[in-house]
Amino acid sequence: MPNYTDTPDISASKHAIDLEYRFGAHNYKPMPVVIERGSGVFLWDVEGKQYFDFLSAYSAVSQGHCHPKIVQAMIEQAQKLTLTSRAFYNDRLGECEQFLCEYFGYDKVLMMNSGVEGGETALKLTRKWAYKVKGIEPGKAKTVYAAGNFWGRTLAAISSSTDPSSTNDYGPFLPGYEIIPYNDLGALENVLKSDPNIAGFMVEPIQGEAGVVVPDEGYLKGVRDLCTKYNVLFIADEVQTGIGRTGKRLACDWEGVKPDILVLGKALSGGTMPVSAAFADDEIMLTIAPGEHGSTYGGNPLACAVTIAALEVVQDEKLAENAEKMGQTFRRKMQELQKQCSLIESVRGKGLLNAIVINDSEDSSTAMDLCYKMMEKGLLCKPTHGNKIRFAPPLVINEQQMDVACRIIEEVFIEMNGNL
Ligand SMILES: Cc1ncc(COP(=O)(O)O)c(C=O)c1O
Repeated sequence: MPNYTDTPDISASKHAIDLEYRFGAHNYKPMPVVIERGSGVFLWDVEGKQYFDFLSAYSAVSQGHCHPKIVQAMIEQAQKLTLTSRAFYNDRLGECEQFLCEYFGYDKVLMMNSGVEGGETALKLTRKWAYKVKGIEPGKAKTVYAAGNFWGRTLAAISSSTDPSSTNDYGPFLPGYEIIPYNDLGALENVLKSDPNIAGFMVEPIQGEAGVVVPDEGYLKGVRDLCTKYNVLFIADEVQTGIGRTGKRLACDWEGVKPDILVLGKALSGGTMPVSAAFADDEIMLTIAPGEHGSTYGGNPLACAVTIAALEVVQDEKLAENAEKMGQTFRRKMQELQKQCSLIESVRGKGLLNAIVINDSEDSSTAMDLCYKMMEKGLLCKPTHGNKIRFAPPLVINEQQMDVACRIIEEVFIEMNGNL
C-alpha cells in the first residue's frame, strides 16, 4: 500500500488534489486550489498564497471565515455537550428555537442539518397540511416549483429540477410535482386555478444556482397574494438568499411578504457546520406528530450554540446593511466595466449576491478561463451554468477590500477582452 501522505517530490497542492482524485468520488470538479486557512474575506492555500473568497462556500460563510465569536461559541459548547439526539431534551435547543422564532417571526421552527433537509421538511409539512388542514384526498397532494430551481441533491429535490446534469440517470422521480416558468405570475395563477390538489409553491426569491436570476419587482408580493387566494402554501427557499445576503434580513423582506414556510440553511451556522431550519406557524407545524420526522443531529446543542452566535453576528455587525452598501458599490463598478468590455453581457444581483453574465454560449470555456485568471491574481469565484460567474463575498467585506477585489476583476476582464 503506497503511503500517500509522504510524497515529498510533489507540491502540497498537487498532493492534496491527487489524493482526492484517487480516493474520493468524482462528484465535484473543484478549481485547482487547495485551501488551508481562512479569516474574514480571505483564504490561504497550502503554499501560503492569499485569496479573496468571492464564493463564500455558496453563501454559507456570510459572517466571514472563522468568525471569532462563532468559533468561541463552538469551542465552549463542544467542550460541554455536542449531541444527545432528540431522545432526550438538551439545555440549548429550546433557547435556540425561541431565538430563531423571535428573529424570523414564526410560531415554530424545526431544525435539521443540510439545506436540502430543510427543503424536504418544508415539502413534508406541506403534504401533511394538505391532508390534515386543507382536506386534499390522501395521496393526491401536489407541489409547484419554478423552472431553474435548485434546492439540493436528494431525490425529492432533483425531482423538481429542470437541469439535466442533476437528473440524468437518477429516475424514477417523485410524483405530484408541477413545474412552471420562474418570474411568471400568470403561469402560477393558471396552475393554481386549474388544480384544487395543489398544496404549495416552493420558490427561491432570487434563483442562486441558476445564475443569480432576480425576478421582477412585485413578483414575491404577487406569489404571496396568489397563494393566499388559492389556499396554497407559499414556501420560500431562502437557503442561499437569507440571513443578510441580499441586503435585508431575508430576500422576502424586500417586498414585505411573509412566506407560510421559510427554509434557511448555509449561513445559519456561519459556515462552521451544517444547520438548516424550516419555520412555520402552528397550523402548519403542528401537523407533524412525534416520530413522524426528524434527524439524529437535527437541533443538536453544538448547532444551537453556533446558530445563536452566527445570527447575533449578523445583527451586531449590521451585515445586511453592509451587504446592501457593498453590493451597490460592486454593481456600480461592474456596470462601469461593462461599458469598456464587450465580454460582459449583463451585471445582476441584490446585496452581495451578484453575477456577471458572459457574452458567450453556455458551453464555452470563457467564464471558466476568467475564473482561472482571477484565481492567479488572488480572487476565487466559480462559473455557474457555463457562462455566468457568481460573485458572493462574505458580508463582512469592507470598502477598501471591495476596491482591491474589484480591481482584480477589472484587470482580468480587460486583459481577456483585449485578447479577443
Ligand atoms: C436555494 C438553495 N436551496 C437549497 C440548497 C441545498 O443546500 P445543501 O447543499 O446544504 O443541501 C442550496 C444549495 O446550494 C440552495 O442554493
